[in-house]
Order: sequence, then structure tokens, then C-alpha cells
Amino acid sequence: MHDPPPTKVTILVSGNGSNLQALIDASSTTMPYVKIVRVISNRANAFGLTRARNASIPTTYHNLIAGKYHATGESDPAAKKQAREKYDADLAEKVLADGPDIVVCAGWMHILAPTFLDPLARRNVPVINLHPALPQKYDGAGAIKRAYDDYHKGKLEHDKTGIMIHYVISEVDRGAPIVVREIQCTPLETLTELENRIHQQEHTLIVEGTAMAIIKLWENRKIGVS
Ligand code: GRF
Repeated sequence: MHDPPPTKVTILVSGNGSNLQALIDASSTTMPYVKIVRVISNRANAFGLTRARNASIPTTYHNLIAGKYHATGESDPAAKKQAREKYDADLAEKVLADGPDIVVCAGWMHILAPTFLDPLARRNVPVINLHPALPQKYDGAGAIKRAYDDYHKGKLEHDKTGIMIHYVISEVDRGAPIVVREIQCTPLETLTELENRIHQQEHTLIVEGTAMAIIKLWENRKIGVS
């Protein structure tokens, strides 16, 4: 099968960026059609920013407090909501300025509002995310620990958790899965061991899921579907 056309990818990170690294590595090996046009972090000290700089990828730091969207400790829910909506609208603008074909959230710890998702959808730019759980299970933060705890209470279905790459919609971790990998829990494994095992698997799945989403987006463009 032929490679897809050259594809511009923007990656959003918040932390260590090991999944970003997997994509950087793949872009010079198995996915030569991928050009990472920018890495954006909402945390200044995210090691993902260093990984991007080391690979000569442009970076942007976009933060709610540093960007003065709201003050530290803002407690008024309406003010907070408004600030986040504006923050997300500005994020969309920053992302779209590079004209990416797709956005990958790789450990991006910020819920994306419609003020981000809608402008991207209007430009037919899919947004995908990595989540360490099976579809419809353990949405949100702390998914691995919650699955681990349930396993040890005998409450984890088939003793399996997992990882998925999925399209992002405004309901957290509920968008359509692109690729899913099941992870079998075992009785003697510690939480840290399970986390490490899942992270290892994430690095291959994020590459696989990104490649699949890229193939799909070019197929859709060819037949004129958004
Ligand atoms: C991953 O485990 C991902 O599942 C979770 O955040 C972590 C990011 O890891 N949502 P890294 O920054 O890619 O190393």
C-alpha cells in the first residue's frame, strides 16, 4: 500500500511526552509522510516541550493562568467557564495558524470545549486522543488506578482494562474509538508495574492509531466526506 500524502500534524501535550517521542521517532521511520508542525503544551515545564525542541519542532506554551484567562484560584464557576471557552478558542486559532491536517492529543490534560472543537471541525481537521482505558470505561483522569483498584475488588469486567485512540468530542473520552488494545490484569502486579506496562503499549498504539486516522482523513477527502 502507498503511503498517504504528506500530512501536517499538531501535537498537544501536558507532561513527559513519551507518546510525543513515539510519534517523533515514527515520523523519521515508519511514518515519513508525517510532519509535526508544532507541539503545544499547557504546562511550561512539560518535558514534551524539550523533546520537541530537540527535534527542531516549533513549540507553543498556552496556559490559562500565565495567559491571564483567569486568576489563580478563581472560584466563580461562570468566570471560570468563560475563561476556559476563550482559552480554547485561542488554542484553536493557534493550532489552525499552522494549517494542520490532524491534531493529536498525547497526554494533554485539559478538557477541550466546543470553542476549540467546532472551529477545527469546520476546517475538517480531526482531533484524536490517547486514553488508557477501554471504550466507555474510566473516562477522565486516573483511569489506570481506577481500573487497577476495581480489579483488586473483583469488579473489573473480564479482568481487563486497556488503551484506546479515539476521536475527540466534547464528552470526555467518549468519541468513536479508532483502535483499542485490551490489557489483561494479573494478581501479583503492582500499580506501578501495570502503569509501566500500559505506557509501553501506548507508544505503539498511538503510532498505529495516528496512522489509521491519517489514512481515513485522506480517504474522506478523496470522496469529499468531511
Ligand atoms: C499517558 O499515559 C496517557 O495515557 C495519559 O497521560 C500519559 C501521558 O504520557 N493520558 P506521556 O506524556 O506521553 O509520557
